[in-house]
Order: sequence, then C-alpha cells, then structure tokens
Amino acid sequence: MFSPSRRRFLHQASTAGIACSANFAFGRFLSAQTQTSNPSEVVRVYLDSRRTVAPLDRNLFGSFLEHLGRAIYEGIYDPGSKLSDSNGLRKDVVDEIRQLGVPIVRYPGGNFVSGYNWLDGVGPKQDRPRVLDKAWNAINSNQFGTNEFMMWCKAVGTEPLMGLNLGTGTPEEAAALVEYCNVEKGTKWSDLRRKHGFAEPYKVKRWCLGNEMDGPWQIGHMTATEYGLKAQDAARQMHYVDPSLQLIACGSSGPFMPTYLEWDREVLEQCYDYVDGLSLHRYFGNTAEDTGGDSAKFLAMNLSMERQIAETVAVCDLVRGHKRSPKKLWLSFDEWNVWYRARSGDAVNGHEQEAAHLLEEVYNLEDALLVGGLINSLIRNADRVKLACLAQLINVIAPIMTNSNGMLRQTIYYPYSWALQFALFILNRDLSKAHAVEINWQDQAPARALSSVLLTGDDLKAFNSFDAPQRVVPRTLDKPSITGGRAKFDVPARSYALMQWGG
Ligand code: AHR
Repeated sequence: MFSPSRRRFLHQASTAGIACSANFAFGRFLSAQTQTSNPSEVVRVYLDSRRTVAPLDRNLFGSFLEHLGRAIYEGIYDPGSKLSDSNGLRKDVVDEIRQLGVPIVRYPGGNFVSGYNWLDGVGPKQDRPRVLDKAWNAINSNQFGTNEFMMWCKAVGTEPLMGLNLGTGTPEEAAALVEYCNVEKGTKWSDLRRKHGFAEPYKVKRWCLGNEMDGPWQIGHMTATEYGLKAQDAARQMHYVDPSLQLIACGSSGPFMPTYLEWDREVLEQCYDYVDGLSLHRYFGNTAEDTGGDSAKFLAMNLSMERQIAETVAVCDLVRGHKRSPKKLWLSFDEWNVWYRARSGDAVNGHEQEAAHLLEEVYNLEDALLVGGLINSLIRNADRVKLACLAQLINVIAPIMTNSNGMLRQTIYYPYSWALQFALFILNRDLSKAHAVEINWQDQAPARALSSVLLTGDDLKAFNSFDAPQRVVPRTLDKPSITGGRAKFDVPARSYALMQWGG
C-alpha cells in the first residue's frame, strides 16, 4: 500500500533527526525524539528520572520461534549435530540465548499455528506423524513439540508465550492444551502430560488467541465478528481451566490491511472483557513501494510504527469507552522486524521438504540501524506496549544464523542484544552528517559514562556472513565526561549508539 498520505508522512519523517531512549533510575523509561536538519545545531536531550514514561517491562524485548524453515529444526533442535546435547538441543544456541537474556519467546507460530494440531507434537517420538504444514508447504516431523519447547525454554531461561490454533483448531482444543500444560494432575489432559513423562505442570501464563486471523492468507481466516466470538469462547474455556491466564487477541496484521483498525474494533466489541492484550504485527522494507529504495526514508520508518501503536491504542480505548470497562488493554507487538527480500518464491515455499531455507533474510547495516530505531520506538511506548517479539530469533528473519559448525551474528543482533542489556540508545538517521548531542540531567546526574559503543559504517548495505562475520560489528566511542550535570559528544552519521551511565 502506498497512498499519497503515506508518502507525505515518510517525507516529513525522513528529515534528519535523532531518536533516543533511556532507561534510568528504577527501570523506568525516558525517551526523546528530536528533529534537526542542521548539523551545527546541538541536539539537547533533557533527562529527568522523576518524569518517566512507564516501568520497564523486559517482555518488550521478547522474540519468536515458528515451525518454519530452519528455526526449530537445524536452528534450536538438531539431534544429529555434533553441537547438540543428548536431548537434541543445540548447545551453542542455548548458551547464546541464555546469555542474551531473551525474556519471552512466542511459539509455535505464526501462520504455522493456524493448521497445527498440538497433539501431533506430544507423546512418544516414534509415534508422531509427519504432517504437511500447509502454511509454508513444508513437512513437519513433529519431533519437536510442546514438551521439547518447554524444555528449551527452561534451558535458556525464558518464558513461553504460547500461540493457539484458532484457524482449524477449536476453543475446546485450545482449552485442552492449557489443561495439558498447566493443570497438575487428575484430569484427562494433565494425566496425558504425566503419561508422556512430564510430572510438573508448566504454568504457562501468556497465550495468543490465534495468529493474523484478519489475513486472507491465514488458514481458517474469518470475519472480525466471527473471530471475536471464537476468541471469546476460547478465552472463557481457557479461563475455566486456569483463571490466572493472560490472553492476547489478534489485532490487525498491519496498516496495509484494508480492514486495519476496523478489524480491531469489531474483534474487541466481542471479546474485550475476556482478554488482556491486543496484538500488532509489522514488517518493514526498503522497497520501491514503501520508500523508493531511499535509505533516509527507510531509517525513519520507526515513526510509522509509533503511529500504528497510537492508532491501535485509540481503538482499544474507544471500545473500552463503549463497554464502560475499568480495564485498559495493553498491546503485544508480537511480530516486528525488517523483512522484504526473502519474502516470495522459493524463500517462502518449503516444497514439501523438512527444514528448507525459508525466510533467510540477510541483514545489512541500514537494517540494524532501523531495528535500533524500532527498539527506541517500543521503549517510547512502554506505557501501553507491554510485550513485543522480534520476529524471529534463529535462521528465519533472524539475528542469529546457524550452520553445522556454529553460529553467525547478523547485523540486527547488535541493537537487539543492547536492548536486552543496556540503557541509553541514540539513532542518528542523518546519512551524511554527524550531530552533536548534549545530555542534560534535570535531577541527579550520574558520575560517569560506563560504556559507549556504536554501530556505524560507510556502507549501509554491508552485511555479515559465515565467511566474513566481522563486517558490521560495534566499535567503541570515546566515553564522554560529565560536567555540571551535562555530557556532550558527537554521534557519527548513519549510527546507532549505546551510552551507559553510572556511579
Ligand atoms: O514471521 C513470519 C510470518 O509473518 C508469520 O508466520 C506470520 O504471522 C507473519 O505474516
């Protein structure tokens, strides 16, 4: 979709500017967005830890693993590999994800989930069927299923965010999976789990009620009202099994949908009282259609994400008003990333094979800069976006790639890993000029900069590969000093910088 208003928006947004996000005292977020096209002007950022956006919910930096391509098989699970443990889990991947500290991982889809029968993926492995996954035209051997995923989550120290099949699946089957996962014993499905060798319930707290049900590409696609009623029924049955669940209804697949926002409103009219959050999805591309291939416009697309958030919040609050509800929904941005190259033809067709190379997007420097900007935008909206998933985590539109010998960190790995660990991020989306930045602390200033790291380069199209894994990697910046409650430093053109303050 490329409407005149969208073109105007991107033009305005692509004037040079600096976008910052900061997480200071007590895990609360501060953020700023500036616009200056004059590099001789100093960009001033005023930080006041008494005036914050919201408490930091680490679930803002979650991720996603779908039964798609090599995400699961050859990605996190590869029993034949020299790098795997006795359960078939890739040890190098487990170590990397554990070290990154990914807080929550959505599974098993994605489009895949809308045709998935979870019963195919549990029980003795030799009895599990090989199933044709119609979403990606691929074979799923079902050797990895719910229990293996829970085992992986435990190994990496993350929380599962379980997706439910509300396409071909029924609300009854959804509630059965909740019972299988969360009830200790003494019922049909909890006893089946125990029979499968897993005595302890998993107590999965957060669940997605289907995936992209507004999309005509989705198996079981239906109207908003039909989906809203189905989600309501599923939510009621699931809450009978476990009243403590937090449930996320399917919002629009993105602003490109003709039903954008109207879908969200109609769905929520049916299920507002039964859910806690609403999902948003968005993939960005430096395409002829969206940006005309103009990198300056591409790097401004995080502003379009912010607009999508604001519009979706408005719909949630409209329905809240209709319902006179005391409850305020939060947003789950449970799929977001750059994705536009590996998006058609053989890149999305598994040709009835197992572990085909699907959606293996190669990320360059400009993608990493935009991912940094998108992270800043999520942080700036932390008052309503409580959960978000970089889509995806391994091999499929992913920061981390595997081969039989090891792993590769793609360019987008760096802004994502910084989000998981650090504090103040600055995107300079000016492609040609450095900008001077001055941080002004309005209350107590920190004693010093602890670290100062930067992702930049001359070539926006540079990418990492297994042969050249160091083409795009962070470099250190001189640490700025703090005097009189102020720190001043330059951020180079085309850069995403991390500043950590302390003491
Ligand atoms: O993440 C890849 C796909 O993108 C997901 O399966 C789907 O939900 C979205 O369209």
